[in-house]
Amino acid sequence: MEPFVYRNPTEILFGPGTIREMASRIPPDAAVLWVYGGGSIRRNGVYEQTRDALGGRRFVEFGGIEPNPEYETCLRAVHVVRRERLDFVLATGGGSVLDAAKFIAAAARYEGPDPWEILRTHGEVVRSALPVGTVLTLPATGSEANGNSVISRRATREKLHFTSDHVFPTFSVLDPDTTLTLPARLVRNGIVDAFVHVTEQYVTRPAGAPLQDRMAEAVLATLIEVGPRTLADPADRDARASFMWAATLALNTLIGCGVPQDWATHMIGHELTALYGLDHAETLAVVLTGVWRHKLEAKRAKLEQYGRRVWQVLSAEDALRKTEMFFDAIGMPSRLGAYGISAAEAAEAVAHRFREQGWTFGEDGDIDADAARAVLLSRA
Ligand code: NZQ
Ligand code: ZN
Repeated sequence: MEPFVYRNPTEILFGPGTIREMASRIPPDAAVLWVYGGGSIRRNGVYEQTRDALGGRRFVEFGGIEPNPEYETCLRAVHVVRRERLDFVLATGGGSVLDAAKFIAAAARYEGPDPWEILRTHGEVVRSALPVGTVLTLPATGSEANGNSVISRRATREKLHFTSDHVFPTFSVLDPDTTLTLPARLVRNGIVDAFVHVTEQYVTRPAGAPLQDRMAEAVLATLIEVGPRTLADPADRDARASFMWAATLALNTLIGCGVPQDWATHMIGHELTALYGLDHAETLAVVLTGVWRHKLEAKRAKLEQYGRRVWQVLSAEDALRKTEMFFDAIGMPSRLGAYGISAAEAAEAVAHRFREQGWTFGEDGDIDADAARAVLLSRA
């Protein structure tokens, strides 16, 4: 096991009725920027409950954060923070709203001339941020309990992430009842995103970390159990609650302590979203088994362990097949053809971006432009 520092400062308020608890978590004299998306919070009761919890505090609403949050929109919010002298950012919604809130919180305190530097340097230039609190309504990204944020810039077709300890939420409310309004497509997306967050930290190489392995396998097995139950019976509150908690534990930095991490699937996937507008999780289902096949020998030991413990199959090849069958069973395509996208064209476009940026990813640092091309060519 590699040495590591583990610190997760986010307080989780979990369960039905917990939105009201944030009244005691936001400082009474805070002046709040309240960010949300395109209106889902007006249909699931989150809007009213949040307004009640804010009580007499001064707050400014900033709605309209897009899925795959747009840089220009975030900059408009930063302008509002400065103009209104706000000092707390409250996000209510899915990962996009939470990620936007984190970027706004960091950019509001950033003193350099160009806030894009926050993303270009993946957070290196972030020295402080406004405090962020969240109410999560879509289990998927883990943004509610980590220091990551992913922002898109449509004008340049870029989608970049930054990471900073300064943007871990101070608290996150996870009320599974707020997810009852999610359509099946978004539940399916959330299952796949959380699933791949685990595999990025687990399907690498043996690292002498049996506890992290067992925790990763527990999260995967839970998603396989409760994900389809949530889809089959949207009113199953127990399944919904476990799905929500599993998605948080998939990327709250715990299972990644001291182990090699991959993230090539995510990085290739981000390019597919930037180029073709696919949902984040859709890109992951397309890329994941392509990366695994490309690295079959290097990953064989972990793929066999995953196959044996999670799917009760004996070979790495069967573990791949089981994974694709699982995606299929929850209605998630795993081929580019399903979206009418040419694999040859996507492979060239993504390889070009990788080469231009000099990117290499994966636990061995060998997923470069050529590897990304090969992975996508295999996903026609
Ligand atoms: O905009 P509103 O009206 O709120 O509707 C949203 C949006 O249209 C809707 N929604 C959210 N909660 C709902 C709901 N609809 C009905 N009922 C509810 N309870 O869902 C739609 C999609 O929301 P979005 O926030 O975009 O989805 P998700 O949570 O999957 O977030 C995706 C973004 O997170 C990034 C992705 O790249 C993408 O930009 N990621 C962030 C990560 C992180 N911070 O750690 C890690 C991930 O790997 C990921 O990259
Ligand atoms: Zn993800």
